[in-house]
Amino acid sequence: MCGNRCSAASWTPPRKRRRRASHPPGPAPRSRDPGGPYPAAAQHVLPRGNTPGKDVVTSATPRSRVAIVTGGIGGIGSEICMRLAGAGRQVIAVDLATRGERIETFREQIAPLQGAIRFEPCDVSDFKACGGLVEHIERSLGRVDILVNAAGITRDTSLRKMDPQQWHELMRVNLDGVFNMCRHVVEGMTTHGFGRIVNLSSVNGQTGQFGQTNYSAAKAGVHGFSMALARETARKGITVNTVSPGYCDTPMVAAVPQEIRQRIIADIPVGRLGTPADIARAVVFLTADDASYITGANLPVNGGYFMSF
Ligand SMILES: NC(=O)c1ccc[n+]([C@@H]2O[C@H](COP(=O)([O-])OP(=O)(O)OC[C@H]3O[C@@H](n4cnc5c(N)ncnc54)[C@H](O)[C@@H]3O)[C@@H](O)[C@H]2O)c1
Repeated sequence: MCGNRCSAASWTPPRKRRRRASHPPGPAPRSRDPGGPYPAAAQHVLPRGNTPGKDVVTSATPRSRVAIVTGGIGGIGSEICMRLAGAGRQVIAVDLATRGERIETFREQIAPLQGAIRFEPCDVSDFKACGGLVEHIERSLGRVDILVNAAGITRDTSLRKMDPQQWHELMRVNLDGVFNMCRHVVEGMTTHGFGRIVNLSSVNGQTGQFGQTNYSAAKAGVHGFSMALARETARKGITVNTVSPGYCDTPMVAAVPQEIRQRIIADIPVGRLGTPADIARAVVFLTADDASYITGANLPVNGGYFMSF
């Protein structure tokens, strides 16, 4: 029974009531973005919070959101950079300074995009270096809105042959790297009331894989991390999600012996390896302004190789 609350005297007309509830439960969005030392092209007010709404970026609007992609010159990372730039983001591709030749090729690839993507060297396993990088980007571009953690390595061997170095090296990049970057961007995202974080895991974090106790452990850890951070930041306008690629046609998978690769393809219902574009599409989707009601989710992009409910 609802007693007096349902009486005709206290009844509010539906139109009025709807207006009062114009944002979902949680803190109301503040009206103005504090801005910052921001490039002239992006001097307009960006939406805050996780209220429903349209993505502000269209082909007509300036490059408003700033995105960092770690592993940004890698097989999947570089495609994510291109597609985020295509979606109107200002992109910073972060990767190891030691990959000189690849950095040069990447610079040639992005040249036609006229500054929409730039390269910044950083080792994501180095906590202090990640802090310096984020500080530098926040100082030069005003903010970091989107973080995609795609840096990753493999150190495959069965557990009986795995030495502590193979374990720790992988953890430092694949898991510590995610912590190191998120730890430094979350503060700014909270201040601006907006953030989109996507961490790349792997189907092998969901299924386990022979010869990959280190990789499977780190990648499973990545999603646990995403879920926990999603809870911590949900009321701040920040979403944190995981994308779990299946086997993709990239240098990482090219390193798998041909015979094993053929066996893997035979087990993929879609009948082919994934492409970097398949993965990048999912990342662009999750990083849109209007993807505000998806957080703590894992989006598998694996051609049906592993299905779960
Ligand atoms: N390729 C696949 O089939 C596949 C499948 C599942 C998951 N993944 C995951 O997707 C992500 C991208 O994979 P990819 O296929 O593009 O691999 P890739 O090897 O082509 O790219 C990884 C990038 O990370 C960079 N990197 C490595 N250590 C780094 C460090 N310490 N600091 C900064 N950058 C560093 C590398 O230089 C490289 O450019 C990885 O996290 C990987 O584990 C890939």
